[in-house]
Amino acid sequence: MTTALYPGSFDPVTNGHIDIIRRSAAIFDRLIVAVAVNVEKTALFSEQERLQMIVEATGEIANVEVDSFDGLLVKYARKHGVTAIVKGLRAISDFEFELQMASMNRKLAPDIETLFMMTANEYSFLSSSIVREIAAYGACVRGLVPPGVEEHLRNRLGLFK
Ligand code: PNS
Repeated sequence: MTTALYPGSFDPVTNGHIDIIRRSAAIFDRLIVAVAVNVEKTALFSEQERLQMIVEATGEIANVEVDSFDGLLVKYARKHGVTAIVKGLRAISDFEFELQMASMNRKLAPDIETLFMMTANEYSFLSSSIVREIAAYGACVRGLVPPGVEEHLRNRLGLFK
């Protein structure tokens, strides 16, 4: 059985992330979507909210599990029998940092591969931070995030209709 791990901050999960989740879940037997609980970052949404939004958006994909983790990604990956870490790549600008992380993760855990999946063209401009920013200024985020996330953003920021 192949288990893949899709880690991220998911603050909040976007339709670009959901696209990567769907396509990865179709390749692997089991996909764990893992929310990084990074104390250095000040997230808009709590760990529980981020988990809930992903669970709501991926409920109908049978082989997807949603979890959170703290500390080293490869340590979590080992503990959960992960064969591959999946990362989405939007543009060349993502590549340098992702290469650095993948190389360090391979140094720490040579048995775990990092696989990159190109984001769908229609989401190549999308990121959680840009969604947070436009929502905070009152722009509609419909079509950029799952409907449940739109609702969470509306409630949290109370700015767009
Ligand atoms: O969605 P993000 O913020 O781009 O995700 C980055 C994430 C969470 C995947 C990355 O920061 C990570 O793996 N953090 C866990 C800590 C760790 O293992 N760091 C070393 C990576 S080389």
